[in-house]
Amino acid sequence: TTYPNDINRLNAPFLTMFESLIPPNEEKVKQKQLLTVLEKLVSKEYPEARLFLYGSCANSFGFSKSDIDVCLAMELQNVDKSDILLKLADIFESNNLQNVQALTRARVPIVKLMDPVTGISCDICINNVLAVVNTKLLRDYAQIDVRLRQLVFIVKHWAKSRQVNETYHGTLSSYAYVLMCIHFLQQRRPAILPCLQGMETTYFANVDNVECAYFDQVEKLHNYGSRNGESIAQLVWAFFHYWAYCHDYANDVISVRTGRTLSTTMIKYLVRCSKRAKDWTRRVGNDRHLICIEDPFEVSHDLGRVVDKFSIRVLREEFERAAQIMHYDSNPCVTLFEPY
Ligand code: CTP
Ligand code: MG
Repeated sequence: TTYPNDINRLNAPFLTMFESLIPPNEEKVKQKQLLTVLEKLVSKEYPEARLFLYGSCANSFGFSKSDIDVCLAMELQNVDKSDILLKLADIFESNNLQNVQALTRARVPIVKLMDPVTGISCDICINNVLAVVNTKLLRDYAQIDVRLRQLVFIVKHWAKSRQVNETYHGTLSSYAYVLMCIHFLQQRRPAILPCLQGMETTYFANVDNVECAYFDQVEKLHNYGSRNGESIAQLVWAFFHYWAYCHDYANDVISVRTGRTLSTTMIKYLVRCSKRAKDWTRRVGNDRHLICIEDPFEVSHDLGRVVDKFSIRVLREEFERAAQIMHYDSNPCVTLFEPY
């Protein structure tokens, strides 16, 4: 990698930007407060139900003032999720929560609400336990090297400014960008992040027949990345360079699970061996395999499946634009984030 000579002049402004996006502690306190309120309301009707935070409010990659994602875990015996969501909506509405809405037909059915006391909006889903577990994996990776959190904040801020963080328009979810950042830091030489799923199992959960196993004693990995001295400015430069010019979109699968880049040829082989990967083949046939990002636990789930022929071009042009700006622009900390 050949960085521009003066790349490190960008360290201070990137770090300032990172600091300004981190939620202040009082926001975290308010989120907990709201969770307690919701827990009380829910347990009156469903005493054995438990609430968990997941997504950006719990994975340590959340910006200030973001909505919170909540998962309600309970045993469902012959009851319909939709009925429960409608019941919950009733309860919330009669307890002064605002903008209450049950979206029972969504891909992930949820109840939405806004708490007028804290001003926080929230989405509640039922039994999305894999999301709670992958949230923990992301949070654990973030503890290993502070550069992951810095990089993710800058990349998410870029993606939101450039409108390439919209799955309903065929671009990528924040979750996908975090996986791309982890993958990228696993590939640096020397590596900045290990592959936790390739190490001794210290955490295990079986969720809907998916085995989630990895090394979660991350406090023991504090010095893992210290042999690599790359600065945040160098990493942002290299991140965009990598997705603009080095990644083989047609043939490579981004796999945090293995800590490597897999080839789609290997995936086709896996498809022949496993029924669960079946979805991927169909999409290969349909030519919708335009960027492949394997979910770390639900390996048949390709987070790039939302990307189509049009949006892959948008995405790659944005990576190229960012790479060019990082290399040639005199003021990348402004130009990079110019609204689309
Ligand atoms: N998730 C998932 N599979 C997806 C998308 C999301 O399991 N295809 C789960 C992940 O646990 C993720 C959470 O849903 O952490 C929220 O996803 P997303 O909104 O993309 O990420 P956030 O981290 O909440 O980002 P943002 O700050 O943009 O809300
Ligand atoms: Mg979210």
